[in-house]
Amino acid sequence: MSKNIIFSCKKCGAQSPKWSGRCLECGAWGTIAAEAAPVARSAKKSSAASYQPGTVKELSAAENASPLLRLPTGFREFDQVIGGGIVSAGLILLGGDPGVGKSTLALQVAALSGLNVLYVSAEEIESQVAERLSRLNSQATVKFLNANRVETIAATILQEAPQLVIIDSIQTIFSDELAAEAGSINQVKAATVKLVELAKNHNIAIMVIGHVTKGGEVAGPKTLEHLVDTVLYLEGDRYKQYRLLRAVKNRFGPTDEVGILQMSKTGLKSVPNPSKIFLAEAHNQPGSVITAVAEGSQVFLVEVQALVSKTAAGYPRRQSSGFDQKRLELLATVIGKRAGFNLANFDIYLNIAGGLVLREPALDLAVVAAIISAYREAAWSQKTVIFGEVGLAGEVRPVTKTKERIKEAARLGFKNIVLPDLAGQATGARLIKVKEVKELPALFT
Ligand code: TYD
Ligand code: MG
Repeated sequence: MSKNIIFSCKKCGAQSPKWSGRCLECGAWGTIAAEAAPVARSAKKSSAASYQPGTVKELSAAENASPLLRLPTGFREFDQVIGGGIVSAGLILLGGDPGVGKSTLALQVAALSGLNVLYVSAEEIESQVAERLSRLNSQATVKFLNANRVETIAATILQEAPQLVIIDSIQTIFSDELAAEAGSINQVKAATVKLVELAKNHNIAIMVIGHVTKGGEVAGPKTLEHLVDTVLYLEGDRYKQYRLLRAVKNRFGPTDEVGILQMSKTGLKSVPNPSKIFLAEAHNQPGSVITAVAEGSQVFLVEVQALVSKTAAGYPRRQSSGFDQKRLELLATVIGKRAGFNLANFDIYLNIAGGLVLREPALDLAVVAAIISAYREAAWSQKTVIFGEVGLAGEVRPVTKTKERIKEAARLGFKNIVLPDLAGQATGARLIKVKEVKELPALFT
């Protein structure tokens, strides 16, 4: 190996010939470290022989002759989110915060699928995986390999010829061909590229687990998204029960589909009637608003809670859990400018009940309604559902799936639905149309 040294940023991967305290690309401090420079491929390997390209028509005919092989896993929500089943030769990245349940989900998929599965972990030893498998009440046999060199893993895969390989996690494996430490951005990328090749060349489905790294995003799943076919995130508060499994990229199926799951003593389980469960603890108090959410093909009701209190000193706080912090700041400003409630000296805390993490635009109006309700210390009338997108001018904009949201609210016995437009038929519910956020205060009972 060459003795040449280069310096690369652990955060963004930028390389430079000199060390510096701050990365000139991404501006991060203290992230530059020395690495051996990659060895150039030999001239022979990179010789520029030309290939005969086929026409798109020919190539797609060839593809039709061998259509994608889908392997349903039998885990209903998982199959739904990835579009019917795992695609052999495809690489799935499963990302999420530590402790959210990635290993559990992967093992459940492996156990349920009945496929020939090889579970590779450098983080855990066999007995830990066996213990988890027994918690899941599974009798399935899953082959296990404790290894962290991608070369060993590749050789084992070729020898065992499994249908599905699970790598737990990508941050712990490394390639001998790079001198960088395991978990560094270059190692994680190099290992992923090797696995993608392996999947494609040998028609094996591979699921790679990636921890979302706190704050800095060092070598997190985000840096790998473009390399893989499918990107799934398991989201939710690890200390609470509910999880959303979300497809954010999918070469072989729908994106933006979600599966709603709950963590139980025996693994992740379906949530058959999400609205009912998410509302079970809803309380009719100031700051509480029920909204109708559409995530993927799922429509369900959930409680948004706001707390507004006078800022004790200095800068007012805006703290959000389960909802985008920047969006909260923006909506607080919109409320000040367009609805006439000056919140400049008030702290605002926002929470989506159940530990869910939601990104839907239709939440805006519910967030605004919750903040106003908390500020005025006046509760919304029970049996009211509120949804709609809010623009900078304080205008309330239509959202997708209005009909379905109305239907779900009516099904659960809600009597008033505050919304941007009147599409859809409500059975027994009163539809209250609002065009601007300033109309909200008059709607309190
Ligand atoms: P884990 O899958 O290890 O999370 P990750 O791989 O994302 O870091 O599991 C997270 C938590 O879930 C762990 O604290 C234990 C808990 N758990 C259950 O509650 N029920 C179960 O059946 C299992 C297997 C784990
Ligand atoms: Mg794990």
